[in-house]
Order: sequence, then C-alpha cells, then structure tokens
Amino acid sequence: DNVAKKRKMYEDFLTQISILKDMDPYERSKVADSLKTKTFSDQEEIIKEGEQGDTFYIIIDGKALAIKDKKVIKTYSKGDYFGELALLKNQPRAATVKAKDTCQVVYLDRKSFKRLLGPIEEILYRNVENYRKVLKELGLDTACIEGN
Ligand code: CMP
Repeated sequence: DNVAKKRKMYEDFLTQISILKDMDPYERSKVADSLKTKTFSDQEEIIKEGEQGDTFYIIIDGKALAIKDKKVIKTYSKGDYFGELALLKNQPRAATVKAKDTCQVVYLDRKSFKRLLGPIEEILYRNVENYRKVLKELGLDTACIEGN
C-alpha cells in the first residue's frame, strides 16, 4: 500500500542523514511515514526571515541558500536540513532560505517534529554554536539565535 511504499522510499535516504542515522530504526520509519514533499523553483523562498515558522525541511534534491542581510550564511544540498531553530526555540525564523535552481524537499510540521525528533533535540541544539560562529565571522547580529 501507500504507507509501505513511502516508508521504503524514505527509510534508506534517512539513514544517510547525519542527525538521523543514529536514531532507532523504528523511530526513523515513523519519520519516513510522516514526510511530505514539495518542490521549489529557482530563487523561491522556502523560509522567510522574521516570520513565524511551523515547518522543518530536509533537501532530497537540488540546492538552497540561507541568507541574512543579503549575505549567504549557508549553502545546502541533498541530505541537509534547516528550519529547526524556529521550532526548537519558538522564535521567528532567523534567516531566509531560498531555492537555488529547482529544489525538492521533504518536510515535517511542528507537531510531527516535536513528537518524532524530540529524542534528538539535543543534537539539533549543538549546531546553534556553529550558527553563532558563522554570524559573528560575517559581522551579523546574533540576536536572532539567542534566548531559550
Ligand atoms: P529557522 O530560524 O527556523 O529558519 C531559518 C534557518 O536558517 C534556521 O532555522 C537554520 O536552520 C538556518 N540557518 C543556517 N545558518 C544559520 C545561522 N548562521 N544562523 C541562524 N540560522 C541559520
């Protein structure tokens, strides 16, 4: 059936994602079941800085850029994730993320994110220090990632 097909399609892909590879296989199959897909065209905004956010994204094909104050703060390709900060910290989106050429993503809503990725929240939080470093190196304000 559809559920089995979807699970099979995403299970292998998810094992290749660094933050998810140490997850319990059963938990990971639950993530696979909850994923939805969406395709963005070149330059289309996936996330808009300052907005309220309820979605976590993983790229399955193509590339995207995180941008703040017109500076590229990160480039994303297959297997990379973004949009976790607004969900972890209940803060507005810290940056804009735009598709670079066509970009296909899978995504989770806030409820599924909390339920399914709750066990790896700690791992997601560890990355915030890297974000801070990048913002400082580029001379950008780090207020967007402080608090909580
Ligand atoms: P969020 O704040 O939900 O939406 C914008 C996303 O950009 C953010 O989550 C991170 O996933 C991502 N991002 C990439 N680099 C940075 C950075 N240096 N500071 C903040 N967010 C970043």
